[in-house]
Amino acid sequence: MDGYFITFEGGEGSGKSSILKSAKTKLADLGLDVLATREPGGIEIAEKIRDIILDPDHTAMDARTEALLLAAARRQHLTEKVLPALEDGKIVLCDRFVDSSLAYQGFARGLGIDEVFSVNQFAIQDLMPDMTLFFDIAPKKGLARIAANENRERNRLDFENIRFHEKVYEAYQVLVSKFPDRIQVINADQPFAQVESEAVSYIDAYLKNK
Ligand code: TYD
Repeated sequence: MDGYFITFEGGEGSGKSSILKSAKTKLADLGLDVLATREPGGIEIAEKIRDIILDPDHTAMDARTEALLLAAARRQHLTEKVLPALEDGKIVLCDRFVDSSLAYQGFARGLGIDEVFSVNQFAIQDLMPDMTLFFDIAPKKGLARIAANENRERNRLDFENIRFHEKVYEAYQVLVSKFPDRIQVINADQPFAQVESEAVSYIDAYLKNK
């Protein structure tokens, strides 16, 4: 495959989604062919699955159901959008991917990182990101940012308690030490422009090394 698959990860309020949007523009200005997308979602079928997963009324959803739906959305998004773009030589920037499932469902929900990875392996068939940026911010600070932003929609996972979000954070630390070559940590507790410029330079440097 000629393209590059770069994923953005982090807890709630880490700013990764806004950084992804502006990084896309900056990289396109450098003459790169970039596609920005997100999980769960990114294409019609997966956006429908997303609505089911994140609906705040779905409080009865079982953790395994949640993990399976996320893996199903991931599969469809991968085959319909990500793989064709990579085959076309594009740089795909994806807001969340399998690491989110390992952190949220595997660790925070307690299903087990290895168990959730094997469910996902069925969906991704070894397609791991070439590079992952982890936007690092203490969960309390991230949640405070969300609380301050009145325009942001609240999804079912936003309503989980602080302990849940601390577990997600802890899980990302585990993943960072498990995949040191793939995951690059960015301090997200800095002004937007600084975080954005670090993200763009990491991606640019990575691509120049290839
Ligand atoms: P979103 O509004 O996109 O949140 P964020 O801006 O924080 O990325 O909602 C995505 C939510 O879904 C988020 O709370 C994390 C959760 N999620 C999982 O729990 N597991 C996953 O595999 C993925 C992709 C997302």
